[in-house]
Parts: sequence; structure tokens; C-alpha cells
Amino acid sequence: MSAAGAPDRYALMGHPVSHSWSPFIHGLFARATQQHMQYRLIDVAPERFRSEALQFFVDGGKGLNITLPHKQAAAELVNELSARAAEAGAVNTIFQKASGELVGDNTDGVGLVTDLEVNLGLALAGARVLLLGAGGATRGVLGPLLGRAPARVVIANRTLARAAELVREFAGRGELEATGFETVEATPFDLVINGTSASLEGTMPPVTPAAVGPATVCYDMAYAKGETPFTRWARERGAAAAHKGWGMLVEQAAEAFLVWRGIRPQTRPVLELLAGPGGG
Ligand code: ATR
Repeated sequence: MSAAGAPDRYALMGHPVSHSWSPFIHGLFARATQQHMQYRLIDVAPERFRSEALQFFVDGGKGLNITLPHKQAAAELVNELSARAAEAGAVNTIFQKASGELVGDNTDGVGLVTDLEVNLGLALAGARVLLLGAGGATRGVLGPLLGRAPARVVIANRTLARAAELVREFAGRGELEATGFETVEATPFDLVINGTSASLEGTMPPVTPAAVGPATVCYDMAYAKGETPFTRWARERGAAAAHKGWGMLVEQAAEAFLVWRGIRPQTRPVLELLAGPGGG
């Protein structure tokens, strides 16, 4: 590719964003696929999000990733939502059509499902799945998870009403149930996914311990170096595995890259750098 001309501009908007791995990930993708582009971080406070995001595109920006706390505001900002963004009620990727209209997409759910099925080799079809939390993280992945035909998905949350609301919204899409943490049935699930933000406070919700058995795979949508409270809890209960969300992070980025550039980069080399031996 010719280096002539300015690189196409992409960015992540969030608040805060300084901790983000996305410039590193997209930089590796761009190098591997020879795309002439740059990707940077833009910290935007909520009250300025709308004007800054619109200005980014007015100034010729090609695409945005959106992270906390702007994912819902982004869904209200765009002219059009993809089916998966509409279902998630949140946008993590924005691109502009030739007509100038902004389209909001959401690659979080497909990122999680790809990590579970392709990278980790799990079969979601027929699986009994326990989802912890009923906030934005859970809502964002529920549709794509249900799309893989699990036998049953139980949503456990501190505030039962929020879990019940999700069950109502996704009614008819699969076997779904809402419950509290301590009322989760005491039978090991095939897969337990943490979508609460409790780790940020260093805590683990009081989930029925017997929900995890020796064949249970546990997955934290959060990622950190070392253990999270959830992965520690899972290991202490003898789970078959306790994964963190590095793969989801890299796969949602690859899907956003595909939306923007029409090329899906290989994710394995990036994942090995982030979460390989000695890392993640
Ligand atoms: P996000 O977009 O990150 O999911 P959110 O919509 O505020 O953020 O949702 C956070 C989730 O983590 C919710 O399920 C929340 O439980 P409530 O619905 O009861 O608020 C959960 N959560 C946050 N802190 C928690 C804690 N200390 N213990 C248990 N659950 C917690």
C-alpha cells in the first residue's frame, strides 16, 4: 500500500480510556493487513460526547469505537442501527455510509461468541449457561448467545427486576430465566459468564457455589492481568477453566476492523501477545 496521503483516522471514545488496549490491537491488525490508518484514544466526558463524536466525522474521521459510559448515548446519536446494535441497545462501533449517514453497530456479542466457540472450542448449542449481571455488558451479548441455541440461559442479578426485564425483552428467543445470586440452582452449569462490574470493586457476588462443578467453564467478560475476583472464585470451586475476556476484546476489535476495512484480521497472534504465556 502506498504511504501517500494521510492515514484514515479511527478512534476509541470513552471516559476514561487511557487504560485501553485498542490502539495496540488495531495497530497490529493494520500492520498485518497493510492498512494505511491510525487509531487513537479520545477521552470525552458524557456532556461532550454527542458533539465530539459528530465533529470527528465532520473532520473526516472514518470510524469510532465507543466504550463506557457512552455505548447507549452512541445508539441515540447514529442515524441507523444494525440489527445486533438495536438488540443490544448499545453501540460499540460507528461507521459512515457514502451518503453521510452514521451507522451504529455492536460487535461485543459476536466477539464473545467467537472467543468461546472458535478460540476456546466450547459448544454453546445445548449448553446450560449462567449469566451473572443484567446491565449493559449482559444485554450486549444476550442476543448472539441465544443465537447459538443453548439449552437454557439463567440470568442472575443483584437487582432481580433488571434480570426479569431482560428475560421479558428476549422472550421467545430461547429458554430464559431470571433469578437472584443466592437462588441460582445448585446444579453445575456448563458455562458461567460474569457480566457484572463487581470486579471493579474487587468483589464477587454471592452466587450459589454449587453452580460450578469440575466440568464448568467460567468466563469473565472483564480482563485484567492476573486473577479477577470471579476467576479466583471459579478456580477455588474447581472449575474446569477460568478465562478472562482478552479474547472477547480482541475478537470484537477484529469484527469492528472488518466493518470498517472489509478485512477480518487474524486474531490469534494478537491474543498470544496480550494473554499468552507470562501475560493476561
Ligand atoms: P455495565 O454496562 O458495565 O454492565 P451496568 O449497566 O451499570 O454496567 O451494570 C452493572 C452490572 O453489575 C449490573 O448487573 C449490576 O447489578 P445491579 O443491576 O443490581 O446494579 C452489577 N453489579 C455492579 N456492582 C455489583 C456488586 N458489587 N455486586 C453485584 N453486582 C454488581
